[in-house]
Amino acid sequence: MTTTPSSSLTQDELKALVGQAALQYVVPGEIVGVGTGSTVNKFIEALASMKDRIRGAVSSSVASTERLKALGIPVFDANEVESLAVYIDGADEIDAQGHMVKGGGAALTREKIVAALAQRFVCIADESKLVDVLGSFPLPVEVIPMATEHVRRRFQALGGSATVRLRDGQPLVTDNGQHIVDVLGLRIRDPLMFESEVNQWPGVLTVGVFAHQKASVCLLGTAQGVKTLTF
Ligand code: 5RP
Repeated sequence: MTTTPSSSLTQDELKALVGQAALQYVVPGEIVGVGTGSTVNKFIEALASMKDRIRGAVSSSVASTERLKALGIPVFDANEVESLAVYIDGADEIDAQGHMVKGGGAALTREKIVAALAQRFVCIADESKLVDVLGSFPLPVEVIPMATEHVRRRFQALGGSATVRLRDGQPLVTDNGQHIVDVLGLRIRDPLMFESEVNQWPGVLTVGVFAHQKASVCLLGTAQGVKTLTF
């Protein structure tokens, strides 16, 4: 289903379009799960318009928490919540089955935790994120620092090329105090099996494949408007 025809929109405008469209999935009176990233930032801005009709949010990162609080939206700890009706987040890649690669913003572990609390995962993305096979975007993996080299070698054995993500010349430190390894050169044809296997490797906190916690719905920003994919 496609709504809201539009002419040539920038990527930023497409993000704003899907951020706004995601409001229809927010359940009044409830707590909403909120992801991380530039697309989610548009959603957070839109969510402010209905802040008096929700109880608040559970956030997947320090950055999103700060934005939510700045707009007067109460933020709950994930441990205070047994279940969420919906989790709204972006993706770096999504395939036709709703499997995703996430973690471009280094928030993958908390994103997977909040997604696991939710009955429904609504992915918001522009159409550049839709792929046939996951793996073109460098796959983010959150790793305990002492295991980085071991994990890098294991990806190399699978044909991938893994590097530690840097910020200002130093390994980036996540909200959880860990590092991110980005893996290039993989074609992830069986995302469910891949996610299960890599998550078993010692030192891997979370692999950025979201197959067990895949999207239920994707709102895709296209030149023709918002296209709704359901999985
Ligand atoms: C952060 C994520 C983001 O959802 C993903 O990187 C997409 O971000 P953006 O909306 O900025 O393209 O997984 O860890």
